[in-house]
Amino acid sequence: MKILIVGNGGREHALLWKLRRDAPSAQFFATRPNPGMAPLCTGVDLAPTDVDRLGTWAEGEEISLTVVGPEIPLARGLADAFRKRGLPVFGPTATAARIESSKAFAKDLMERVGVPTAAYRCFRSWSDAEAYIQEKEGPLVVKASGLAAGKGAIVCQTTEEALEAAREMLEGDAFGSAGAEIVVEEFMEGEELSVFGITDGRHVTFLLPSQDHKQIGEGDTGPNTGGMGAYAPIPIATDHLLDTVRDQIFLPVLDAMEASASPFRGVLYAGLMKTADGPKVVEFNCRFGDPEAQVILPLMDNPLLELLVAVGRGGSIAGTRARWNGRSALNTVLASEGYPGSYEKGKEIQIPGGLTDQEDLLVFHAGTREEEGRLLTAGGRVLSVVGLGNTLAEARERSLAGAEAIQFQGKTYRSDIGWRALESEETPAEGG
Ligand code: AMP
Ligand code: GLY
Repeated sequence: MKILIVGNGGREHALLWKLRRDAPSAQFFATRPNPGMAPLCTGVDLAPTDVDRLGTWAEGEEISLTVVGPEIPLARGLADAFRKRGLPVFGPTATAARIESSKAFAKDLMERVGVPTAAYRCFRSWSDAEAYIQEKEGPLVVKASGLAAGKGAIVCQTTEEALEAAREMLEGDAFGSAGAEIVVEEFMEGEELSVFGITDGRHVTFLLPSQDHKQIGEGDTGPNTGGMGAYAPIPIATDHLLDTVRDQIFLPVLDAMEASASPFRGVLYAGLMKTADGPKVVEFNCRFGDPEAQVILPLMDNPLLELLVAVGRGGSIAGTRARWNGRSALNTVLASEGYPGSYEKGKEIQIPGGLTDQEDLLVFHAGTREEEGRLLTAGGRVLSVVGLGNTLAEARERSLAGAEAIQFQGKTYRSDIGWRALESEETPAEGG
């Protein structure tokens, strides 16, 4: 079996790691693999967005399954192009990927089928947005509708902040064409969770829910990033909550997409807020989350590959279930100083010898590159340091020890990943 992974970040490193465990005898390929992935696969020197050339290459190699990590190649029609050539591919078509690539599309779809989400309005005109924001009271969230690497949502406490965010998107050039349309929505109070459903377009198999930490600063402060760390399992994801999420969120959305002749096949990522009125959708993504995949995949007991192959070939996953090993995982992301704003690259990274041989510690590469035998930083999010343990506290300890041991100039990370769950673990239950 020949498997191509498209993408070269922390999520794709984790996918490669898991799929190799699932199929040790398969041959693996990846587009421009990072230095962590490179020893595990054969590199293909094509960009993930070079859809036609990738298709020609994959056809020539007779690739049995292509797994697409990032959203941009999906939004540019990679899955459409591969399917046209008869190549099995895990990931939705460009039309279905609009659930992520256009927040306006996602919100309108949710409104149409009654999926719980924040009240909102979409705008292309600054004067209309201005009038609407002026009318509203309380905090608002202003979002670029298009793809913005997780940084396009601005939580605004005051009317002035909301006006400024909207003006910068619609009148200025914040987020470029992704900000030509914006969504202005009410602020939702609650705790966030990420739920990934593998779907053949009709049935859904949930992976273990996890929690990301989007903000750069400790205690969830400062601007949003792509994600600074995650952990799983999470105590707030009860069976009851997941039943609600399936019945009120995933199934209505999948049914509506199938009915409009653009079924979603791949992994549907629901970013949720657990509010006092039940779970509500913050956003949908058309792919696995990063840094969440790095904690979920090491906890999965059964093969992920079987699910990806079934969906990739256009088959059914009815009746399938994912199994988990009962342990915990926590991922601390090491970022470059300045991220999510501008940052310098090319800092030498030192990973102590033997660190990655430790049991219960996994280091997934994201923004790294190799030059003359030296490992250098090459992106905002540089490494994912994943600790595994029998408890979340153990997983956290291992992840933090790894994060401390790795060195590079400007290394920036949050040492409080998992704080909500750890705090509730420490608080004795009331009434003994
Ligand atoms: P998004 O890009 O839509 O996922 O938003 C990024 C982050 O902004 C989310 O993970 C939340 O932390 C925050 N956020 C977005 N929308 C809302 C909302 N309506 N209420 C509260 N927080 C939000
Ligand atoms: N962790 C957030 C995302 O993958 O979009």
